[in-house]
Amino acid sequence: MVNEITIHDKLFVKYIDYNSIKQKVKEIAVAISNDYSNKELVFICILNGAYMFASDLTKASTIESEIHFVKLSSYLGTKTSGIVSELIGLQIDIENKDVVVIEDIIDTGVTLQKIIEILQAKNPASVEVASLLFKPDTYKGQFKIKYFGFEIPDKFVVGYGLDYNNKGRTLKDIYQLKIS
Ligand code: IMP
Ligand code: MG
Repeated sequence: MVNEITIHDKLFVKYIDYNSIKQKVKEIAVAISNDYSNKELVFICILNGAYMFASDLTKASTIESEIHFVKLSSYLGTKTSGIVSELIGLQIDIENKDVVVIEDIIDTGVTLQKIIEILQAKNPASVEVASLLFKPDTYKGQFKIKYFGFEIPDKFVVGYGLDYNNKGRTLKDIYQLKIS
């Protein structure tokens, strides 16, 4: 069936088509454009997953902005420091800047929490998050997600930037794991 695809060992079924994604992205872009109309906004896109969303979101927004691309790297530090997280690629000074983090999906919120902590330490004027997808049932974070596209259940999804072991990322539509 055309609405089903196999990625590695798993079957996925089409879940959100690109037209619906595009419509939702436009709504988020309008909201952000209104909220930051008199400001110079800095978008920070979290690679790799958010690259498609970031592209469509920035094209649909109508305000002056910059976009920068970063990656979160976590590694085991010393015994006392434990897991250390670092944002790779942030080459601009965000002090006193208004920042919107662009994420693909917020699941437990652990990743986001680390990103927010790192950014807050650099004293930006403000930090908000725009995530295309949000899984409210699994979210354990404190940070309130101001802009999100779709609230989805706790089921694995791929496409539109999201991958399953590196596959599925380039699909235009979003597919959900089929549990039969
Ligand atoms: P969190 O730290 O649990 O919020 O997980 C966030 C990260 O896990 C995302 O940035 C994704 O890279 C990955 N992730 C979580 N859920 C999914 C999913 O359903 N499909 C693909 N990647 C996911
Ligand atoms: Mg991600």
